[in-house]
Amino acid sequence: MQCHTSSRARLGTSQRSCSSTVVSKRSSSRYRQQAIPIPEIASIATSVESIVNELASHAGPLQPAVQVIGGDIASVAALSPTLPGLARLTGLWYLLGTKPNPLLGMLDFFALGPVSKALDRKLSARDFVLRDKLGGGNFGVTYEAVRLTGSDGTLSTRKPLTPEQKQRRVVMKRVNLDRAGVRNNFLKAGTMAKGAAESGAVESYMCDKIKRNPLVAANCAAYLGEFTAEEGTNGIQKDTQWLVWKFESDSTLGDALSGQLGTWPEDIEDIMLGRIDSSKPVEKREAAVIKGVLKQVMQGVLRLHSLGIVHRDIKPENLLITVNGEVKIIDFGAACDMCTGINFNPLYGMLDPRYSPPEELVMPQSFPKAPNPFVAALLSPFAWTYGRPDLFDSYSCGILLMQMCVPQLRSTANIRQFNNQLRGFDQDLEQWRRFNGRQMDFTQLDRSNGAGWDLATKLLARRDKYNRGRISVGQALRHRYFLPELF
Ligand SMILES: Nc1ncnc2c1ncn2[C@@H]1O[C@H](COP(=O)(O)OP(=O)(O)OP(=O)(O)O)[C@@H](O)[C@H]1O
Ligand SMILES: [Mg+2]
Repeated sequence: MQCHTSSRARLGTSQRSCSSTVVSKRSSSRYRQQAIPIPEIASIATSVESIVNELASHAGPLQPAVQVIGGDIASVAALSPTLPGLARLTGLWYLLGTKPNPLLGMLDFFALGPVSKALDRKLSARDFVLRDKLGGGNFGVTYEAVRLTGSDGTLSTRKPLTPEQKQRRVVMKRVNLDRAGVRNNFLKAGTMAKGAAESGAVESYMCDKIKRNPLVAANCAAYLGEFTAEEGTNGIQKDTQWLVWKFESDSTLGDALSGQLGTWPEDIEDIMLGRIDSSKPVEKREAAVIKGVLKQVMQGVLRLHSLGIVHRDIKPENLLITVNGEVKIIDFGAACDMCTGINFNPLYGMLDPRYSPPEELVMPQSFPKAPNPFVAALLSPFAWTYGRPDLFDSYSCGILLMQMCVPQLRSTANIRQFNNQLRGFDQDLEQWRRFNGRQMDFTQLDRSNGAGWDLATKLLARRDKYNRGRISVGQALRHRYFLPELF
């Protein structure tokens, strides 16, 4: 305390003499300058201290801790920090201020997860009746289904649904059960899924974690839970395992891009922009639709990253476009949770060659295998900063941008060829354009002084061994491409 007073006194004097010199030196010159009052550092420290004391008096049992940390902050504010104080503040910042947050990661995995699982409404085969098949991936078969209520009686799988029944539609994914099964401690060990059954368990784990975080859940299909059919009923076989989501939409971005809904991007203009404003130039309206979709995808991916989840399969088929103009991310079978190490192995990856970056893995191969979830959560901010696993998803967003903007890259075969060719040019998009893109239409990317093109080059760039070169989705969202257009 004494030290503060004397430093304040010293500072006060030196400031006064210093500012008076400045004024007297220039008072005669034609640049008349007024002395700007600089707040005294020690007085800031005193204010911090009084705030801390006030907080501490209301902190109950946490009073001693608040006082110690508050004292540390005050000493930093007074520019006289102590080593233990700095260590305490760094530790606190690491636990509370870093992303993915280790404290929240541990709390979620060890407390919130088990509690919410115990409280979840139990689903059963009798609750649903299966209807059309929607997809058949490597790890499961996806169906449209309807959640039954008492009034349904037996609902025919063929009869068209009433509007009220449509409201009760769900999507059910039957997990392919393989001989490998699910290892007993699989989700507790922090490791990568082996086979279809464990991939089903991974998807359920990711969706459960997302569900506990409403801000993140808003960008993903609403997950209702999982069950194993205890009996065969309504087209559901006994002993099969199912994951269930709310039916969010009839269309994916893949459907919209492939022309199934009309001409892209006008086909979703009214739902994305709320109306079709024919008074505006078509090009500008198209740009608004593409930007709107990409922005939502990136915001969703950014939120997943804040939980430590890397999706690893961002592509048009895994993005639903709802009637309200929302973009919902689906299909978490390939995702990995870098906060707990679930579904992560530095040597193996899951990828779609059309959308995956050249490095193919989320982390450098030299990175150690995931430890148990406690240690993984504790080290996750380090791992994230060192390996930048998020740059995997930002690359996929770059491919998505190219596919949405360049008509010649819209088909599945062409986007695959594009990603291959780009590797041949060491991820140099300019070079690729000069050789392979000569005949293509880049109007959308070249607008506004090449804003879209600039963004694409930064998202599709190769990352060097220090992970420099490619931008994250957070940086991409701050790119001038997303600024409102003036003209
Ligand atoms: N919540 C949902 N609402 C509406 N449709 C959905 C939903 N979830 C999935 N679908 C539809 O089911 C399809 C398959 O789902 P998903 O991508 O999760 O499975 P998959 O294992 O990848 O299968 P596939 O390889 O056939 O895509 C999606 O492309 C989409 O058309
Ligand atoms: Mg899919």
